[in-house]
Amino acid sequence: MISVENIEKSYNSEKVLKNASLKIEDSEFVSIMGKSGSGKSTLISIMGGFLAPDSGRVLYDGKDIFKYNDSQLSSFRCTKIGFVFQAFGLIPTLNVMDNLLLPSTLGKSQSKEQREYILELCKALEIDTMLKKYPDELSGGQCQRVAIVRALSYEPSVVILDEPTGALDSAMEKKVMELLVKINKEKGTTIIQVTHSERVASYGTRIIKINDGEIA
Ligand SMILES: Nc1ncnc2c1ncn2[C@@H]1O[C@H](COP(=O)(O)OP(=O)(O)OP(=O)(O)O)[C@@H](O)[C@H]1O
Ligand SMILES: [Mg+2]
Repeated sequence: MISVENIEKSYNSEKVLKNASLKIEDSEFVSIMGKSGSGKSTLISIMGGFLAPDSGRVLYDGKDIFKYNDSQLSSFRCTKIGFVFQAFGLIPTLNVMDNLLLPSTLGKSQSKEQREYILELCKALEIDTMLKKYPDELSGGQCQRVAIVRALSYEPSVVILDEPTGALDSAMEKKVMELLVKINKEKGTTIIQVTHSERVASYGTRIIKINDGEIA
């Protein structure tokens, strides 16, 4: 279970998250919605351990991730959490396959099974012919799909996605959402996605609304 407790976060003097609390059970599929600038990306960056809050706690199964030291926190991010950034976060000097293998290299060792699983995910999202290309040779939607496969590649127990279908056409959006639903159902992976789309949100089982830094 993920428990976010009384998170406050300010940038300069602007308070972006105000006493934000929420709980997410294992194997839930949650959609976070709210206006642009309401604090969604900030909230999930904190939930993924990428950004420290000013105050408050984020507990995974009762453990406060911001009490971890640097190496414990980076190991948590590389093994437990799959994160799809709003701006994709691909490494420009690595080709697609090496981008996909990066978390496995940082976290646990790569295996043949893992390469096969990555290939299976790439086929599902129709990027399996692009593995030798570099990010700047791909379209925005193709980069977005690489970022999604990378987050799923090492079978983390929690996947957090920031507007995962923003760059995709509606047919590909459906494929991505059906893949997330399948992984959620078959592997029990917890999925947390930020979206502006009611249609994308409806694939989840619960909607959390955030309004001007406050969870409704
Ligand atoms: N690194 C930063 N430095 C200063 N201000 C920031 C920073 N990141 C975000 N903000 C501000 O914090 C507020 C919340 O930003 P955030 O990115 O969390 O919003 P969001 O809900 O994800 O919006 P969008 O839907 O447009 O992605 C905004 O007012 C933004 O300008
Ligand atoms: Mg955002």
